[in-house]
Amino acid sequence: MPIVSKKGSLMPQSPIRKLVPYAEKAQKAGKIIYHLNIGQPDIKTPKIALDAVKNNTLEILAYSRSEGSEVYRQKIADYYAKNDIHVKHDDIIVTTGGSEALLFAFGSIMDVDDEVIIPEPFYANYNGFSTSSGVTIVPVVSKIDDNFALPPIEEFEKLITPKTKAILICNPGNPTGYLYSKEEIKKLAAIVKKHDLFLIADEVYREFTYDGLEHYSILQEEGLEENAIVIDSVSKRYSMCGARIGCLVSKNKTLIQTALKFAQARLSPPTFAQIASEAALETPQSYFDAVITEYVDRRNTLVSELQKIEGVKVGTPKGAFYCIAELPVKNTDRFAQWLLEDFDVNGETIMVAPAAGFYSTPGVGLNQVRIAYVLNKESLIKSVQILKEALKVYKD
Ligand SMILES: Cc1ncc(COP(=O)(O)O)c(C=O)c1O
Repeated sequence: MPIVSKKGSLMPQSPIRKLVPYAEKAQKAGKIIYHLNIGQPDIKTPKIALDAVKNNTLEILAYSRSEGSEVYRQKIADYYAKNDIHVKHDDIIVTTGGSEALLFAFGSIMDVDDEVIIPEPFYANYNGFSTSSGVTIVPVVSKIDDNFALPPIEEFEKLITPKTKAILICNPGNPTGYLYSKEEIKKLAAIVKKHDLFLIADEVYREFTYDGLEHYSILQEEGLEENAIVIDSVSKRYSMCGARIGCLVSKNKTLIQTALKFAQARLSPPTFAQIASEAALETPQSYFDAVITEYVDRRNTLVSELQKIEGVKVGTPKGAFYCIAELPVKNTDRFAQWLLEDFDVNGETIMVAPAAGFYSTPGVGLNQVRIAYVLNKESLIKSVQILKEALKVYKD
């Protein structure tokens, strides 16, 4: 019998999606499930983006340029300028989601067995992208008790080897909601410059910062032009996850030329989705103001409700729309499956993402879950109530 690759067998399942079959079974059996496992916002996509596709008169749905439509890239550069990030359109490659931008970045800067240092817990699919690129993740642990602040810089330096090619951060962070300060970015900048490494920043949640805190992009850091690579996406910004549009941004010309070859190999990003994403750039600030107010309200509700449960530990996220919660159970993989298969409160249950998959250190995060606050306040209150009841009866 033909056999699949070693790499294929090693590819991790997404902790966000692996419980889907249990959820589907529960749904078929009539259970209502509150989906706290996935970052799929319930916020409406701006009408202007949807209308741009509905009203368009294209007669041939052609390929675009591999790096994305020039007009769209010009407008993305304008969007960055408004955020005090100064790049040109040819510093940008439009990709099929931030996911593809991550794959292009990994492919462009790392060979098989090279190493990337990532503060953990991190966005779970970094595990998948590194496996598919043959790259090893070297984790540096950030802790729930420090609200997931950047570990001391010495911890990073200890981990640098001749194989290290990059440090990757997610800012604001998924799954922790941590927002890096300007000082922390400066410390990272100093270290990557000293050791000639790339600094990749996944900034797909740039707009989602709370409590008056401002996002500081690595592209704002002077002197980091050759090292900085930003990963971006329209998925969360405009609640357009299904558009599948993102981009890779860097002022390093060689890096962009290299990433372009990966882009050429897959021909082009999707045409209709670029049309929608270009129109989305016209979204007024009032949209974001309303969305941010909503997320702050949801965050406050979720965190305060969780803190009322004995044995549950949770920090306050400063950005994005996730939090990591520590639960009084030994293994949240089993607990999350049990919630779907064997538990309900009046026919309702919750789906959470077990957090071990957001770490690469084996055995860490086993008692944690990631919760996405992408549901309305009432549903979040209901969900935490269900969690509370579940913890009362669950036996490890
Ligand atoms: C931190 C982070 N980076 C990248 C992505 C990929 O997003 P997309 O491929 O939809 O742009 C996600 C999606 O949830 C994410 O949370």
